[in-house]
Amino acid sequence: MKADLDKILFDSDQIAARIGTLAQEISRDLDELPDDGEIVLVSVLTGSVIFVADLIRQLPQKLRIELVTVKSYPGQATASQGAQLIDGIDGSLEGKHVLIVDDILDSGGTLNLIRAELSRRNPASLRACVLLRKQRPSAMATTCEYIGFDIPDVFVVGYGLDFDNYYRNLPVIGTLREDVM
Ligand code: XMP
Repeated sequence: MKADLDKILFDSDQIAARIGTLAQEISRDLDELPDDGEIVLVSVLTGSVIFVADLIRQLPQKLRIELVTVKSYPGQATASQGAQLIDGIDGSLEGKHVLIVDDILDSGGTLNLIRAELSRRNPASLRACVLLRKQRPSAMATTCEYIGFDIPDVFVVGYGLDFDNYYRNLPVIGTLREDVM
């Protein structure tokens, strides 16, 4: 499977190290929030599952996890086709401190959609965290409080990110060889 990669952008040590510093930053900010509301992490399926699993184990705060699905890359498409939120949130977000966690910020459509949907539910605070942000104007213009790595505008797989639902289990993040796409 690793042989299908053209280039490795980040190996597992680099990913773990960055998640460590990101978690410290998030944790510090969570500690500064007023004590009045619960912390709820909203993880965007399926791409963020590995990231969120590693991230939350470095957050010592008491928190809840909710899962939402956003469909934006059906099947083998590698260009954004618009996003649709399938909400799996169980319960109210009113007065809670919400942190959206996603794998990658590309066009910004997904994050903008989730932020708009969740802000309608009157959370006490609403922030977002992505592991990767593509260096393209629409991604850079999208509000996102925590960013793991900025990457070039290329299609990447691994560490939760897929092509046709494959490669999510790669422990590294990289680009695919052209002949396998
Ligand atoms: P938007 O364009 O809405 O995209 O910011 C966010 C979602 O699109 C998927 N995505 C990718 N998936 N490699 C992937 O495997 C990529 O390079 C890529 N770019 C976007 C992903 O599901 C993300 O949450």
